[in-house]
Amino acid sequence: MTTTSSAPGKVYLFGEHAVVYGEPAVPCAIERRARVTVTERDDDRLRVDASDLSIEGFTVEYGGSTDERPAVDVPPSLLEAATGYVDSAVAQARAAADRPDAGFDVEIESEIPLGAGLGSSAAVAVAGIDAATRELGVDLDAREVADRAYRVEHEVQDGEASRADTFCSAMGGAVRVEGDDCSTLDAPDLPFVVGYDGTGHDTGELVAGVRALREEYGFAADTVAAIGDLVREGERALEAGDVEELGRLMNFNHGLLSALDVSARTLENMVWAARDGGALGAKLTGAGGGGSIVALDDGDGVETALSLTPECAETFRAELATAGVRAE
Ligand code: MEV
Repeated sequence: MTTTSSAPGKVYLFGEHAVVYGEPAVPCAIERRARVTVTERDDDRLRVDASDLSIEGFTVEYGGSTDERPAVDVPPSLLEAATGYVDSAVAQARAAADRPDAGFDVEIESEIPLGAGLGSSAAVAVAGIDAATRELGVDLDAREVADRAYRVEHEVQDGEASRADTFCSAMGGAVRVEGDDCSTLDAPDLPFVVGYDGTGHDTGELVAGVRALREEYGFAADTVAAIGDLVREGERALEAGDVEELGRLMNFNHGLLSALDVSARTLENMVWAARDGGALGAKLTGAGGGGSIVALDDGDGVETALSLTPECAETFRAELATAGVRAE
């Protein structure tokens, strides 16, 4: 049998990084999906074919032991990051189906670049767990897939993960996450425009950097708390449908993320280009260090401004994805 699932990427309207310390965050799923196709094998091995992750495509085959690393010609850190999520997702599916020795051929296709701040790893983990459990005859509901995908991120990112990315990808739409408290929100289809600088970054490392800053400096702990306050303001603006206020708050959120040292020259240039292009607001999205920005604009000024910005490798309008994880 062969089973395919897909799950969306996301942008953060507000709250990345601070959500790791129990503050609320509001990520929104976007119509860029990762698709994972799984076929059960008749041995316990794993073969992973990832041809489209905006890194060198790769195909690897390896056995159940975690020490055994495949010999392939791609940088070990990228290979480890990508296969780490797949390994751990497969482990979750084996546990959910009580089939510890199940082997799989896994094929990953993604419209979300890896490490770009757009939730590729969460989407791969969510779609991978859903496809592999269904392939083994077990149907999990979306909340259980989200919970298992969170455990994947937690493990691969050395304990540096919130539930936000994985819950958002599993449920779709706009969501609110505060600690273990996760809920879906009724949000309008906001006019998101994304700018992506073409680079990938390690979320675990960036989160560890903020943690260190927060432990060393009182201002960084205050900044994390200030992001929490701002997210609560943002929720009120979202409820009132006040898009102008949402934009202003996004600008403030970006400033606070810069204070936590997770911005980058490319992100600053794209944020300012978007504002010059008429954005209601613009901020980096996700872990930062490079990667992507998200802006609000219902005209075409921002896309035009970003397409003329040398640091921007790709810009696109991102529709809210109402469907979370789904069978394909
Ligand atoms: C990364 O997409 C979002 C962070 O808040 C980390 C996390 O929530 O796990 C930086």
